[in-house]
Amino acid sequence: MSLAVMRPDGLHVEAVALADIAARFGTPCYVYSRAALTQAYTAYRDALQAHDLAGRSLICYAVKANSNLAILNLFARLGAGFDIVSGGELARVLAAGGAADKIVFSGVGKSRTEMRAALEAGIHCFNVESASELGQLNEVAGSLGCRAPVSLRVNPDVDAKTHPYISTGLKTAKFGVAFGDAFDLYRRAASLPHIAVKGIDCHIGSQLLDPAPAAEAADKVLALVDRLSAAGIALEHIDLGGGMGIQYHAAEPAPAASDYLAPMLARLAKRRENLVFEPGRSLVGNAGLLLTRVEVLKPGEEKHFAVVDAAMNDLMRPALYDAWHDILRVGADATASAQTRSYEIVGPVCESGDFLGHDRALALNEGDLLAILSAGAYGMAMASNYNSRPRAAEVMIDGNSMHLIRRREAVAELFALESMLPGENPSP
Ligand code: LLP
Repeated sequence: MSLAVMRPDGLHVEAVALADIAARFGTPCYVYSRAALTQAYTAYRDALQAHDLAGRSLICYAVKANSNLAILNLFARLGAGFDIVSGGELARVLAAGGAADKIVFSGVGKSRTEMRAALEAGIHCFNVESASELGQLNEVAGSLGCRAPVSLRVNPDVDAKTHPYISTGLKTAKFGVAFGDAFDLYRRAASLPHIAVKGIDCHIGSQLLDPAPAAEAADKVLALVDRLSAAGIALEHIDLGGGMGIQYHAAEPAPAASDYLAPMLARLAKRRENLVFEPGRSLVGNAGLLLTRVEVLKPGEEKHFAVVDAAMNDLMRPALYDAWHDILRVGADATASAQTRSYEIVGPVCESGDFLGHDRALALNEGDLLAILSAGAYGMAMASNYNSRPRAAEVMIDGNSMHLIRRREAVAELFALESMLPGENPSP
């Protein structure tokens, strides 16, 4: 299902015209589809069901991909758990009605305060990434008189073959416990009074389109689980992380969830452990777009620029990873005055790295609306206020209704937390 559908009066998300959203809420604006979010979640669950695994699997949505309360709440209603990486994400999930006992807590640098909050909330499991973290968690749990449920996140040293910034499973990455150290660390964990060994965890990277590296990592993890079991450490669950890639380019389709997951699930179906997955991007990425308006057309000698009102602060992925997002005109027909040209789609931020797309063939007039597709994951979640730009509004479409799920920031809110030095102000 494609998120934006062209009708005679322009692009729509579900039954709502993007032009109507821009008229009502302004631009830049993130637009999500409830139907597309639901469909992405069900595709994941159906893939598990096809291997008879849904009943013993927990789909923990990786909150970092998009942490808007409405999105978290929608997934909670669908029965999802959550993968969090901070106390802030814990608070969001609880505020959105997520169940604490379906939360897994990942990340290389959990503070003691965060550990305490998660223990008090009663989360499902901590994904521990180092010997030191294990020791600290044991102490914090001890101070609360409880035992912390723990998986070790192991680093299987598998090349995920994705962008180096989002590849996490190689020896050189900061993530996880080195594979060769994991067995001994499990023995230590099992001996600690305030640690309850529950599972094992592995996440090798993000935007993976080929299932082979994930299957290879799964094989390594399963061999370790068997070795641990033989040594008397029986694990209740296996967490294989997230990472399934999505389509960013019309010409480069991504595998369906059922196909991507099949090699992993075939291995897991034969086992008795419960399963955890941590998908982020694949549940929200294709379900959102960034709506923006062309402010200025600037023909140049070498390049033609279309300066739009969204920028790198709204969607950082192109600037940070040189990522591609398809960009469509929202209007059905370009006016006769608009000539198709190759445009650099850039924002107003004062950096040459502030681009949203290079070399896009579009027929544009100033004032036209554009839709930057596949922006539901790591879009708003990574937005900043750089250049004192208020963050965009977010709107969820549900059939023919529009719901404002985050209002646009006001400029005064950007400096509301700041204060000036005491003393005299210069006279005007
Ligand atoms: N679990 C862990 C431990 C992770 O570190 C991540 C993502 C996920 C699950 C979810 O992975 P996903 O299913 O979304 O691939 N900002 C980058 C992506 C960073 C991913 C970080 N970790 C981007 O825009 O491409």
